[in-house]
Amino acid sequence: MAEKPLVVENLTIHYYTLHGIVKAVRNVSFEVHRGESLCLVGESGSGKSTIGLSVLGALPSNARVVSGRVLIEGTNILELDEENLESIRGRKVSIIFQDPAASFNPLFTIGQVLSDIVKYKLGIDDKEEAKRVVLKALSEVGLPDPERIFNSYPHELSGGMLQRAAIAVALVTRPSVLVADEPTTMLDVTLQAQILDLLQSLRQKLGLSMLFITHNLGVAAIVCDRVAVMYAGSIVEYGPTDKILLSPKHPYTKKLIECVPRSSIRAGRLKYIPGSLPDLRRDYPGCIFAPRCDEVLEECTRVKPKLVEVEPGHAVACHRVLRAKG
Ligand SMILES: Nc1ncnc2c1ncn2[C@@H]1O[C@H](COP(=O)(O)OP(=O)(O)OP(=O)(O)O)[C@@H](O)[C@H]1O
Ligand SMILES: [Mg+2]
Repeated sequence: MAEKPLVVENLTIHYYTLHGIVKAVRNVSFEVHRGESLCLVGESGSGKSTIGLSVLGALPSNARVVSGRVLIEGTNILELDEENLESIRGRKVSIIFQDPAASFNPLFTIGQVLSDIVKYKLGIDDKEEAKRVVLKALSEVGLPDPERIFNSYPHELSGGMLQRAAIAVALVTRPSVLVADEPTTMLDVTLQAQILDLLQSLRQKLGLSMLFITHNLGVAAIVCDRVAVMYAGSIVEYGPTDKILLSPKHPYTKKLIECVPRSSIRAGRLKYIPGSLPDLRRDYPGCIFAPRCDEVLEECTRVKPKLVEVEPGHAVACHRVLRAKG
């Protein structure tokens, strides 16, 4: 088995819309090691979910992969036909969403949904055996009384319980890669902490590689070994979580950290990054963050900065940082 169950290489994705071509993901590369959790963090619209869906081979029909590869256990999911895709999706790679209801059909009980997955993805035809596997999956995610949950419809569960059930749907097939797209954003703070704890312990127990998507750096600090900071479709900085949070180098990362509510509340007001995301239909010759950057140099508007390692495992795409490094 590959030591890097998920590898994304030079990925560029465009959306075709009535108003033009949205260049949502721009030459993104990263890898997630076995058992590791990598966080994609960035403002709304920076391309996080688009990357998450591409990892599942589940992009919407108006999306076009312009270049790049997404390797799941060494297989490029972007070039598989529907049949081969089904043998990987939900088996080697699964996803959980912000809204757990997205993982369920409201007309079927939790047990029916999970039993179908066990039948079609794991090939377990025997009903009794399938039910045993499903009940085990439900108790593994900390749901009390799995038998009752088995017979419940999605609307009969609370948000936190439904998210646990959605995690069971994602993990019952024992995938090696899990994409978690803002899985706790809709939950209150206590439930949020419980679900993050659950994901951490399942990751360790199952050796899962997790691509965790969030706009919340506080959440990233709890669950992730490494963080990749995204801005307008590109990764502008990546590195170990403590390096990114305690000694960020890119001006955008620094601003994002200043906006984490705890420090802003102490300052008496909520902070935000002035300006808005650039028009993603355009190409930008220089650094795409330059118009919002208060450390901008002349070359920033002319030349696109490359992601360069400033220390082992910590890379930054910023002319000023690279100039200081010499
Ligand atoms: N189906 C689509 N058709 C056209 N444009 C889309 C589509 N989905 C996303 N986009 C655009 O692509 C860009 C990236 O969107 P994406 O959903 O990947 O961002 P995100 O970082 O996940 O944002 P959020 O934090 O709000 O979830 C945005 O400009 C968005 O408007
Ligand atoms: Mg999103």
